[in-house]
Amino acid sequence: MEMGLKDKIAIVTGGSIGLGRSIAIALAEEGVNIAIADINEAEGKKTVEELNKSVKAIFIKTDVSNSANVDTMVKAVITEFGRIDILINNAGIVGPQGPWSELSEESFDLVVGINFKGTFLCTKAVTPQMIKQQYGKIVNVSSCAGKSGEQFNGVYSTTKAAALNMAQSLSGELGEHNINVNAVCPAAMDTGLMEKVYRERSEFFGYDAEELRKSIQSGYKLPRNLTTLDASNVVVFLVSDRTNMMTGQGVNITGGIEVH
Ligand SMILES: NC(=O)c1ccc[n+]([C@@H]2O[C@H](COP(=O)([O-])OP(=O)(O)OC[C@H]3O[C@@H](n4cnc5c(N)ncnc54)[C@H](O)[C@@H]3O)[C@@H](O)[C@H]2O)c1
Repeated sequence: MEMGLKDKIAIVTGGSIGLGRSIAIALAEEGVNIAIADINEAEGKKTVEELNKSVKAIFIKTDVSNSANVDTMVKAVITEFGRIDILINNAGIVGPQGPWSELSEESFDLVVGINFKGTFLCTKAVTPQMIKQQYGKIVNVSSCAGKSGEQFNGVYSTTKAAALNMAQSLSGELGEHNINVNAVCPAAMDTGLMEKVYRERSEFFGYDAEELRKSIQSGYKLPRNLTTLDASNVVVFLVSDRTNMMTGQGVNITGGIEVH
């Protein structure tokens, strides 16, 4: 199926490892040139090396929670590629796992700063260019936790609800400029982020980490676990010409666990 993505330009935040890396590779397979914006330079450069085998890719060291970093990154992408067609707001972290009343103000600020403010800053920075082009596709990586909440991971879940609502709110603002803003809401995939969840929550409550992983990755209506490729394929679809009339949506990729 022709996706209409060849030679498009995408920024993937948090694209050095995990889901972001998988999204970058899936986009490159459709001929999209990529800027990886991440704090992890060593892994980011490895991902860029891989991407450069098929498309043009660059790494720009960026802390998405820092507005000066984000503005510099966006200017560098425009200088290098001349336009920005796609923004994937993927960079994200989980904070300490445990009861809300025991979370520190510092951990709240860190999670909200990267997940919520980072998504705000990157979107704000690319929007003038997309309006000038009268074309753009933005995908916020939310989570099924952003729809239903998640106990002992409450601040993270709240930021994921914010990422979803930001897509809904902005779709109304940016639609007249031919800019689509959607969110994806995946369930648990095996990445470094989830390893931290299993490890820390098990330590806090005295669970077995592997048992916790199995219990979180269960209940799918389909007979296997979710992978980063499952989520990446949906992201590619959402930024393609095949979904031009989809905007303001929060698309579940949960094997049927989340249905609303
Ligand atoms: N893994 C899951 O099960 C799951 C489920 C639903 C949603 N998500 C979301 O997917 C996204 C990616 O998560 P992942 O599981 O791949 O995690 P990960 O830890 O494997 O990767 C996160 C990436 O974000 C980067 N990053 C962290 N802080 C940053 C900052 N300040 N500026 C720029 N980059 C930064 C990291 O360096 C890393 O490359 C997150 O937004 C997460 O909330 C993950």
